[in-house]
Amino acid sequence: MRKLFTAWFMLFAIATMHAQDTKMNTFISNLMSKMTVDEKIGQLNLVTPGGAVTGSVVSKDVDEKIRQGNVGGLFGITGPDKVRQAQDIAMKNSKLHIPLIFGLDVIHGHKTIFPIPLGLSCTWDTAMIKKSARIAATEASADGLDWVFSPMVDIARDPRWGRVAEGAGEDPYLGSAIAAAMVRGYQGTDLTKNDAVMACVKHFALYGAADAGREYNTVDMSRIKMYQYYLPPYKAAVDAGIGSVMSSFNEIDGIPATGNKWLLTDLLRNEWKFKGFVVSDYTSLSEMQAHGMGDLKTVSALALNAGLDMDMVSEGFLNTLKQSLKEGKITVKQIDEACRLVLEAKYKLGLFSDPYRRMSNERASKEILSDDHRKFAREIAAHSFVLLKNNEHILPLKKSGTIALIGPLASNHRNMLGTWSVSGDPEKSVSVMEGIKNVAGSDVNIIYAKGANISDDSMLIKNTNVFGPEIEPETRTPEAMLSEAVAAAEKSDIVVAVLGEAADMTGESSSRADISIPESQENLLRALVKTGKPLVLVLFNGRPLTLTWENQHVQAILDAWFGGTEAGNAIADVLFGNYNPSGKLSMSFPVSVGQIPVYYNAKNTGRPYNGEGGPKFKSDYLDIPNEPLYPFGYGLSYTVFSYAGLSLSPAQISPNHPVQVKLTVTNTGNYDGEETVQLYIRDPVASVTQPVKELKKFQKLWLKKGESKEVNFTLTTDDLRFVGSSLRWIYEPGEFRVFVGGNSRDVVEADLSGD
Ligand code: NOJ
Repeated sequence: MRKLFTAWFMLFAIATMHAQDTKMNTFISNLMSKMTVDEKIGQLNLVTPGGAVTGSVVSKDVDEKIRQGNVGGLFGITGPDKVRQAQDIAMKNSKLHIPLIFGLDVIHGHKTIFPIPLGLSCTWDTAMIKKSARIAATEASADGLDWVFSPMVDIARDPRWGRVAEGAGEDPYLGSAIAAAMVRGYQGTDLTKNDAVMACVKHFALYGAADAGREYNTVDMSRIKMYQYYLPPYKAAVDAGIGSVMSSFNEIDGIPATGNKWLLTDLLRNEWKFKGFVVSDYTSLSEMQAHGMGDLKTVSALALNAGLDMDMVSEGFLNTLKQSLKEGKITVKQIDEACRLVLEAKYKLGLFSDPYRRMSNERASKEILSDDHRKFAREIAAHSFVLLKNNEHILPLKKSGTIALIGPLASNHRNMLGTWSVSGDPEKSVSVMEGIKNVAGSDVNIIYAKGANISDDSMLIKNTNVFGPEIEPETRTPEAMLSEAVAAAEKSDIVVAVLGEAADMTGESSSRADISIPESQENLLRALVKTGKPLVLVLFNGRPLTLTWENQHVQAILDAWFGGTEAGNAIADVLFGNYNPSGKLSMSFPVSVGQIPVYYNAKNTGRPYNGEGGPKFKSDYLDIPNEPLYPFGYGLSYTVFSYAGLSLSPAQISPNHPVQVKLTVTNTGNYDGEETVQLYIRDPVASVTQPVKELKKFQKLWLKKGESKEVNFTLTTDDLRFVGSSLRWIYEPGEFRVFVGGNSRDVVEADLSGD
């Protein structure tokens, strides 16, 4: 009976969807029958009047172009009134009254800013991440936006690349889970709802693998590496029903992504069955000229032929496609297809039935930065912090005594939000000083000293301060600032040093060759360590940093990334033990830049070095170890978790015969806390060499002190698949190894046989 009902329900759902599609197709066909080729090309044009953009070009004569039907969408403006004004031009003054679609970079929150995405990924909490995207959608839609340029899912193994801050780190499994969660959070279950926005997965594809971590640099990679390690998060976003995809700046196999037919058509449309539209990145179409693909007309035709539907800012489509059509380089059918996809997106967003549905002063004033949103921002920020070190349990801090609060980021609003927080107001953020005052209570005496500038390096300051004075050098000499800080430290019971990067030392166009704490602050830290006072280092950073010296000399290190609007409160919650830290790294921290790229899912090589014997002739370095300083998945808690009793039942796996993996995790320390239990596998013998470990499952677990819980995972042969030489995911029977632990290094393990 139940089966019958399910089958009936499925049929009903399919029939309803079909009817809706038919209705949409009829509506769009009818509309397109009235459109000239110019108007169709106009729909493929995405412009920006400027503001919060990261390219050198901004669109001209936007109002007039809207009137002429030469614009499909607009990005870079926000707020119900401004968006309404622009929509009015399209609805009242253009011939066909086709609504515009409004986009923006809403990356980790709209006005309530959450931690940078790299920080969010360290929560390993897909439910919380989904909720952060839902809140961002609620705020963005109230502000008039239909479309957000997120999630950014580029796998990255090179922390020199500044955009690691925007993604979920180095692992395809974790990255895919987060990608799907974000899409669902933004889009909700019904895109026509006033508080739903269309998501745009980016940057398709492989942007995170730029040579030497240098921004916008060449990418060159084998297909096997792409399919197994770099493409899964984009695919996960597509499978979760994402409405749009943004093509990346880089080339793939020698052809820029924006003009790459294999990527945009063969893979995305034909293999993955993507049904939405593809937009270029900012001028990535016209940049194909500099790549060496021809003039604007040639690259525009190349892009349309490849499967690009919308051109962001280049206006190559607008200004050259008609000519290419005359010359037979492209067809009307191609223009029609692209136009239809853009119109479909507008239809699905409900814009044809109400072009003003997402502009609501009332909702904006009620929902944006509401108490609930801020409360959640504080919670998720606390979950994102990673405790890298805590010797002699100097954390959590006591709520009494004298704290020397030192560092250029200790009493600072400007840098709390992190990169890509274009609508966030730093003045609405909570500084670390304010957070500590809110949480510590009146028995704590705080002595503050800035101690150093974020950097004294004029080149770094100039290149960082492009969006405003994030690094504000003082007129005092470095010596004067330093001695004030040392004096404060000497008068205190404990030093909390808040150091690191300025917000825009990561993000787009923020590659660094030296990824240590800037020298001015290093000098400060060394002087503070010399005082012999116990020292806690709170770090602001948008990328893994090299912390070898700090790891040796500082008692405790808390990585707070850029925590967003509630950063200061959340940091204080963790420092004083109101929340026991639970973040786990989603990206390895190198011992030194020379190790990069260093990532946990590496291959064994023919001459693996296991640390025993001399270094010759092994795959290693003469001067540094192979292992990163802090591995993927790593992160301490104020309590301790022990892992025991790993069992596999049965110990034999085969297609349709899964295996239950069981073990017991016990909280053996003195605090209640949350652990992320991680399951990795290894396939030691395969037709294509496999990494030494690959994440396949994880589970979050809350344990009271002294409590034990049994953890269960189900493994199927799907979890043991890899990309074979045919570029298909395949399962090969044989022996496997299963590892479970609280990070990728410290694990318990068992054998598994596969038939
Ligand atoms: C360029 C960036 O690469 C992309 O991530 C962003 O969405 C666009 N600019 C629009 O601002």
